[in-house]
Amino acid sequence: MKQDNKEYMENNLSCYLNEQSLISPLVETSLPIAPKIRLGILASGNGSNFEYIFKSIQNKQLNAEISILIVNNPNCLAIKKAIKYKIPYVIINHRDCNSRLEHDTLVTKKLKELSVELVVMAGWMRIAGEEIINSFKNRLINIHPSLLPSFKGVDAIQQAIDKRVTITGCTVHYVQKEVDSGSIIIQAAVPIKEEDSKETLKKRIQNMEHLILPMAIAKVAKNIRTSLKDNK
Ligand code: GRF
Repeated sequence: MKQDNKEYMENNLSCYLNEQSLISPLVETSLPIAPKIRLGILASGNGSNFEYIFKSIQNKQLNAEISILIVNNPNCLAIKKAIKYKIPYVIINHRDCNSRLEHDTLVTKKLKELSVELVVMAGWMRIAGEEIINSFKNRLINIHPSLLPSFKGVDAIQQAIDKRVTITGCTVHYVQKEVDSGSIIIQAAVPIKEEDSKETLKKRIQNMEHLILPMAIAKVAKNIRTSLKDNK
């Protein structure tokens, strides 16, 4: 891209553009949010998004605090990260519950007990039930590795490869009953290169996830604080 063109794009669009990706809308993560928003993070796997949320807070790029990490899988790597960073965590294993409702209720109860204000599903491999959705209206968000509404559900990266699309990405959205269907908060587009394997593509998508999730948290946190003021 010609330099003047690139400058024009960067100055005039609320997006971030380079050869690798495009983020829209671009959100300033270090927005002053007082008091800090209390986060509950739900994770089932590696916890890399959880780790990046923590790092954004630690680097003072995000005005928030993590009240709790909840995992449903006792063997997930996210737990090791919580221990490393001394973040409180709890295991609520769905296998110990008799029903989805029971698990959903236990998770919701824990979040409420700790006065969590914003719940982030960061690699949470469970479908959110009505209990948590209704308890955290406009305060429950999820990250998904595709440009929604394309490629909902499991293995979104493989779905994109199979359809031979040339651009995919990731999306942070509000959670509603239908999976991967709530209003979109922020998206990043990631080109699929000819030489990409699933793993190289996944890595580039995850790099963008680590950028947009803190941005989405900042955006929703600002909405939460603003609506509180409006209600006074
Ligand atoms: C991410 O790719 C996210 O989009 C999906 O699950 C993955 C979680 O990765 N929902 P990690 O556990 O945060 O590393």
